[in-house]
Amino acid sequence: MRIDIISIAPNLLESPFNHSIIKRAKDKGLAEIIIHDLRSYGLGNYKQIDDTQYGGGAGMVMMIEPIANCIKKLQLERDYDEIIYMTPDAKTLNQGTANTLSLKKNILILTGHYKGVDQRVRDKYITKEISIGDYVLTGGELAAAVLVDAVVRLIPGVIGDEQSALTDSFQDNLLSPPVFTRPSEFDGMKVPDLLLTGNFPKIDNWRSEQAHKRTKEIRPDLLDETS
Ligand code: 6GU
Repeated sequence: MRIDIISIAPNLLESPFNHSIIKRAKDKGLAEIIIHDLRSYGLGNYKQIDDTQYGGGAGMVMMIEPIANCIKKLQLERDYDEIIYMTPDAKTLNQGTANTLSLKKNILILTGHYKGVDQRVRDKYITKEISIGDYVLTGGELAAAVLVDAVVRLIPGVIGDEQSALTDSFQDNLLSPPVFTRPSEFDGMKVPDLLLTGNFPKIDNWRSEQAHKRTKEIRPDLLDETS
């Protein structure tokens, strides 16, 4: 899978993709992540990429020309399955979206700043808009890093234990059950006896019950969702 990211703060994206599992995915050739500095597509001597908004009001708007020039250049090189705009005024990322995106070949991610991008960018180029939650970040880079992490770890071969991505929290719209490791007793706190019995059908049953119980307590909204 190839992921291109257009950003005005490419430095912000260096660290998240150069460590741990995502780095390993890149090294194994399972994911290619390429960052494009929007500034180099800026207009004029000052490489302008933003301007004041029509109609007045505080805050700058990212201009369409630099973004269009960058997207058009990339589209000449390959077709994109999705062109995603990271913005707080969009549907929230969930596991279903991450699963779907992990099956794509080429995705392009545009990260927003300031007041956001000129609406015409969204109308003309963007095929999907994603927020990572109901709060505002200074820019879309950290949100893009979250999205890429959630997607890349699902690519087959990226996580050693294939089973583990499937049993994550949210994979069935359920939170994960509690987990324990050694010691079996700490400060008088014991691991549930059943987990020490080796009775795996019963253990599976218990885990499923715990997952439902936790979900009902902490995120009852997930139990109403169908996606
Ligand atoms: Cl995608 N961008 C920004 N700037 N803030 C956010 C977000 C995205 N998702 C949640 N908050």
